[in-house]
Amino acid sequence: MLKYLAQILSAVSVIQGTTAVVPPRAPVTPRATGSLDSWLATESPYALQGVLTNIGPDGADASGASSGIVIASPSKSNPDYFYTWTRDAALTLKCLVDTFIAGNTDLQSTIQNYISAQAYLQTVSNPSGDLSTGGLGEPKFNVDETAFTGSWGRPQRDGPALRATAMIAYAKWLIANGETSLADSIIWPIVQNDLSYVTQYWNSTGYDLWEEISGSSFFTTAVQHRALVEGNSLAEQLGHTCSNCISQAPQVLCFLQSYWTGSYVLANFGSSRSGKDANSLLGSIHTFDPDAGCDDSTFQPCSARALANHKVVTDSFRSVYSINSGIAQGQAVAVGRYPEDTYQGGNPWYLCTFAAAELLYDALYQWNRAGELTITDVSLAFFQDVYSDAAVGTYQSSSTTYSDIVAAVRTYADGYMDIAQKYTPSSGALAEQFSRSDGTPLSADDLTWSYAALLTAAARRNATVPASWGETSASSVPSVCSATSATGPYSTATNTNWGGSTTATTTGSCTTTPTAVAVTFDVLATTNYGENVYVVGSVSALGSWDTDSAVALSADEYTSSNPLWYGTVTLPAGESIEYKYIKKETDGSIVWESDPNRDHDVPQKCGTTTAEVDDTWR
Ligand SMILES: *[C@@H]1O[C@H](CO)[C@@H](O)[C@H](O)[C@H]1NC(C)=O
Ligand SMILES: *[C@@H]1O[C@H](CO)[C@@H](O)[C@H](O)[C@H]1NC(C)=O
Repeated sequence: MLKYLAQILSAVSVIQGTTAVVPPRAPVTPRATGSLDSWLATESPYALQGVLTNIGPDGADASGASSGIVIASPSKSNPDYFYTWTRDAALTLKCLVDTFIAGNTDLQSTIQNYISAQAYLQTVSNPSGDLSTGGLGEPKFNVDETAFTGSWGRPQRDGPALRATAMIAYAKWLIANGETSLADSIIWPIVQNDLSYVTQYWNSTGYDLWEEISGSSFFTTAVQHRALVEGNSLAEQLGHTCSNCISQAPQVLCFLQSYWTGSYVLANFGSSRSGKDANSLLGSIHTFDPDAGCDDSTFQPCSARALANHKVVTDSFRSVYSINSGIAQGQAVAVGRYPEDTYQGGNPWYLCTFAAAELLYDALYQWNRAGELTITDVSLAFFQDVYSDAAVGTYQSSSTTYSDIVAAVRTYADGYMDIAQKYTPSSGALAEQFSRSDGTPLSADDLTWSYAALLTAAARRNATVPASWGETSASSVPSVCSATSATGPYSTATNTNWGGSTTATTTGSCTTTPTAVAVTFDVLATTNYGENVYVVGSVSALGSWDTDSAVALSADEYTSSNPLWYGTVTLPAGESIEYKYIKKETDGSIVWESDPNRDHDVPQKCGTTTAEVDDTWR
């Protein structure tokens, strides 16, 4: 509550102008203290718990969320983030998969629940479409896995790519651990749908990750390229093919080059903003490949492009936030989404500040692995900020210049973590934003993505890195870019049964997803004596629209005040059906309900064997 009071008070002082008595400030929340190492030692487990608290069905702050559903934040008003976003959930799960692979075996059931939930969510028709008509680009769903039907910035085309990436990481771990059949039977069908979405729509406009600009977005294009490359690699490991991945990935990479202005990344096409945007920092860290060289084409963290862009983006916040004032060039500052931002006050974001650190930790890992670092004309200004004697050239790891530069970059990277620490309350809670004027946490509380961003930055700081996605064989840019697209295949992913495997011993109580569901049709339809009501529809169990094969409903609970006809039909789980009610007259003639056809998505959820629809004749 205090933060809203503070906002109201500051708004009042603005309205009253300079002659007004300045109201007393809200007390400053106690802040985290101690060294960065000691803070991370307590903040990392707190952040992991913060993530798990936001995942259904058991997360303490995710009450009402279905199994495996990741809420964005428990905040239900100003802003209301009590939904599941495909992007946020996928980035969070990628972090959990990497943490699991690094040794935290407790996370496996959460990962499996997430994957099962995504298999179902792919089948939920929504305002962006259904499984094969664009619905995978829907940005967010209600926490009970129903479609969110309000107006929104849709579609957002990064979600399927990021979800594929998260699932591929776990699938590859399964394969490496003798569970290829689980990867093949459960994960591949879901991943294949997401890859098909990317190959079909990568060259179409959509909303950016901040849900504001309809156009093309660097982050989206970058993560799409990555997903297609590793998706094809997974396909090959499983004995499948993704020929559309092979045909489209180089073209996505070709398009990615067009965001480079020569001195920084223009984050979006389709906007009049400067284009300086943490979108591009996030694009580099989420396509970081520990095996890659400092490749400009994929904007690897140690590339000249990524470092030049890091400077331009972070510098853009030096003058716009008063908490950054007085901080010298070459020292870390608070980082937000983009300098023109006004959303919820347009403050610095924890996840953007962590991203600025993480990119540099990634670069340090890559230089260390290569045993050298190179400064070019493009990256020189970045290096001069942290090491004033920097000059164009290549420095071997045995040289003192190399040692001095990497030490300076590490200090600079830690500076971004220090900024985040400085503005984190002593509880460890990470909100979405912190005030540009005094660092007070603002906007959504306990943002899942903020916690995941702390965890990935802390891991990279420790040189704990994710698996390669295959960048080394996917960084060469075609000489000519083409506007292309490749469609399909899409099919409902029906298997979410993790049970019975040797590694999947912690799947929780529910181990089977039914393949069929008994759907009860209830319709209020006033009838005359001799008239009977039937349901007929698009699947064979509903007569495939043949009125002779329609399913008769019962009137044994019919009253004049409650003219109920009902019947139960077993339908395939996960199927999207259309149907209508009809009346058969005593002379055999048929009366159809008025258009349009009704539709129903037969649920496909662990433990769900029945469903009901309640209709009124029209
Ligand atoms: C489609 O790809 C072409 C070739 O790279 C590019 O010029 C065009 O801007 C792209 N359009 C979108 C919306 O991605
Ligand atoms: C980083 O390394 C330290 C010391 O080796 C360890 O205690 C800590 O758990 C690690 N943190 C992460 C996030 O990997």
